[in-house]
Amino acid sequence: MKDLLRTADLSRADVELLLATATDFAKDPMGAHTALANRTVAIYMTKPSTRTRLASESAVAHLGGTPIFIRGDDLQLGRGETISDTAKVISQFASAMIIRTFAQADVDELGKSSTIPIINALTDDDHPTQLLADWLTIRENFGEDISGRKFTYLGDGNNMSHAWLIMGAIMGAHVVAATPEGKWAPDAALVAQAKKIAETSGGKIEVVHDPELAAKDASVLYTDVWMSMGDPESERAEKSAVLAPFAVTSHLMDLTASDAIFMHCLPAHRGEEVSAEVIDGPRSVIWREAFHRRTTIQALLYHLVKGEIKGNK
Ligand code: CP
Ligand code: NVA
Repeated sequence: MKDLLRTADLSRADVELLLATATDFAKDPMGAHTALANRTVAIYMTKPSTRTRLASESAVAHLGGTPIFIRGDDLQLGRGETISDTAKVISQFASAMIIRTFAQADVDELGKSSTIPIINALTDDDHPTQLLADWLTIRENFGEDISGRKFTYLGDGNNMSHAWLIMGAIMGAHVVAATPEGKWAPDAALVAQAKKIAETSGGKIEVVHDPELAAKDASVLYTDVWMSMGDPESERAEKSAVLAPFAVTSHLMDLTASDAIFMHCLPAHRGEEVSAEVIDGPRSVIWREAFHRRTTIQALLYHLVKGEIKGNK
């Protein structure tokens, strides 16, 4: 597999390899400090980023390479140069490209037109690198045997909810997305895809609309911002009202399993999707989760550039 365009591109074996290597990089960040020596990785972002940018630049540096950060409208893309032409040029200068943008179709096209690995660092539809960090954090907390455990996402049926369902399906987990019905539910085609993956992995995919039911006996409560980058401001009031029952509060945490953890991809808005008491409380693992953005992106770059990610095709 040349690129990581979507979470669903990964096989269970790929994820296991990446988590194992990321575990090594957590202990020994410089363990492969010549892997990208004298090479560059382009990091192009048309949306803001704190974690993904810092993690990606650090990961490239730890592998001995040089990150080239390109912000939104710096490229001639904004002046009408095609994605295909841009891809051909970047392929001549960089060993890989990490991209964060709006349309998934643009990332797909970049993958098709380039000869170097392309990594999706968040689109409107998906956030695959986040889920690698999330699953490493889940592994560290619960070990490999996740039978009988339920992993619940609550909130907007957005890119994070999609990635959560797909990665859970790949890992053979029982994953739940508790979202409003209708406009802010996860994409139906994506849910169908997750269910299909779960048929062979032994996972179980549920989309529900009752936050208490979803939280009951769960091992993880996960949430994300209610307003994603690019969401229309005009919808904020209506969306906040509809999402209010899905806010992760101590009341919901009290319904979970005794060893349950709280997770959040960050950035967070205390008092909106999560209460300060929960996110800053003893069951929150958000800083370890954020730490693993670097270890997992480092592992992904390491194996993808060497052609060692097989994909599920
Ligand atoms: N979780 C995440 O992707 O954070 P950033 O938007 O800060 O990169
Ligand atoms: N759903 C959020 C995730 C941020 C990491 C967004 O797309 O803005």
